[in-house]
Amino acid sequence: MAESQGNGDMLSLLDWERAAQARLPGPTWDFLQGGSGAELTVGANRTAFDRRVLLPRVLVDVTKPDLGTTLLGDSVRAPIAIAPMAYHRLVHPDGEVATARAAAGCGLPFVVSMFASRTLADIAAATTAPLWLQLYWLRRRDALADLIGRAEAAGVRALVLTVDAPRVATRPRDLRSGFTLPPGVTAANVDPAAMAVARMGESGSSIQSHSREQFDATITWADLAWLRDTTRLPLVLKGILTAADARLAVDHGVDGIVVSNHGGRQLDSAIPAIDALGEIAAEVGRAVPVFVDGGVRRGTDVLKALAIGAAAVFVGRPVLHGLAVAGDVGVTGVLSTLRAELEEAMVLSGTPALTDIGPALVR
Ligand SMILES: Cc1cc2nc3c(=O)[nH]c(=O)nc-3n(C[C@H](O)[C@H](O)[C@H](O)COP(=O)(O)O)c2cc1C
Repeated sequence: MAESQGNGDMLSLLDWERAAQARLPGPTWDFLQGGSGAELTVGANRTAFDRRVLLPRVLVDVTKPDLGTTLLGDSVRAPIAIAPMAYHRLVHPDGEVATARAAAGCGLPFVVSMFASRTLADIAAATTAPLWLQLYWLRRRDALADLIGRAEAAGVRALVLTVDAPRVATRPRDLRSGFTLPPGVTAANVDPAAMAVARMGESGSSIQSHSREQFDATITWADLAWLRDTTRLPLVLKGILTAADARLAVDHGVDGIVVSNHGGRQLDSAIPAIDALGEIAAEVGRAVPVFVDGGVRRGTDVLKALAIGAAAVFVGRPVLHGLAVAGDVGVTGVLSTLRAELEEAMVLSGTPALTDIGPALVR
């Protein structure tokens, strides 16, 4: 890590983003930052946070802000988790092992992508943080069941099924750059036989074409019963954007929901997740924890999400920015900055306890 990129210069998540851009190859940067279509949703995720304002209360004793909470049965140090993102080794040789170390240091959950580039066993050995495993529904159900078995053996605490990707969307930046996975960056936890039809990364946009061959686009609500029968781990659905689907999810016995548009990487023009959160939290927030992701970059964003009804936020790209710049030190820098910003926002808004944070705080 260069001197100028010591944590002292890193005052906000934007500083880590700029430093990551300066050091990553253009096509890798575009893969990380980019979205689908015209990237309308990528931009809207940010503006939807910025246009909301906070209504602070005053003359409250804020000497002991308390950010700790319990997520799916585990105590964590803040209502913040690391979103699942494929292939951390794209930006740092230690990949998910470094991210897991940082998650442990910060006491926050790490949602490991199905397409992690380090083995679940190595990731689990590096951390005491709660690990959740994200899944796409592969056509090869035996491969899916096998992976779930290995996740249970590795001590994974919950499964997060991503339901907004019957196939990977067209991402113009990757097509233009001809983005491919470099040699040595592979999906370390997926049975190679299940991936063998076309190795990802052999031609431009191959992540997209690969998804058409491997992802099962036939699955419907009724198929969730199979997953329920396959594991006793809590099951969270990621990629819900309507109250109607949130209701269906709860009726089908899920244990949590992530309100998400996949960081603007799936359906372009999809509603910003923070705009969808209120209705969904009103529909199911008393039954299951409702998480949200997409565009969380500041402590005040986290506060806004909590006020609208989130139990916690997931943070995506900023984690990879920190990892690219300084490995586990960088991820720790990003997460601890976000946590410190949330703490300050709670103090300055007169809401020192998470239970003080409600709809009256945001407009
Ligand atoms: C490089 C990259 C890879 C991703 N890979 C996955 C993945 O494997 N599975 C998944 O469910 N979501 C994936 N996502 C979406 C994130 O989990 C999350 O929804 C999104 O990044 C949140 O938005 P943010 O980056 O603005 O915080 C990925 C996102 C990025 C940027």
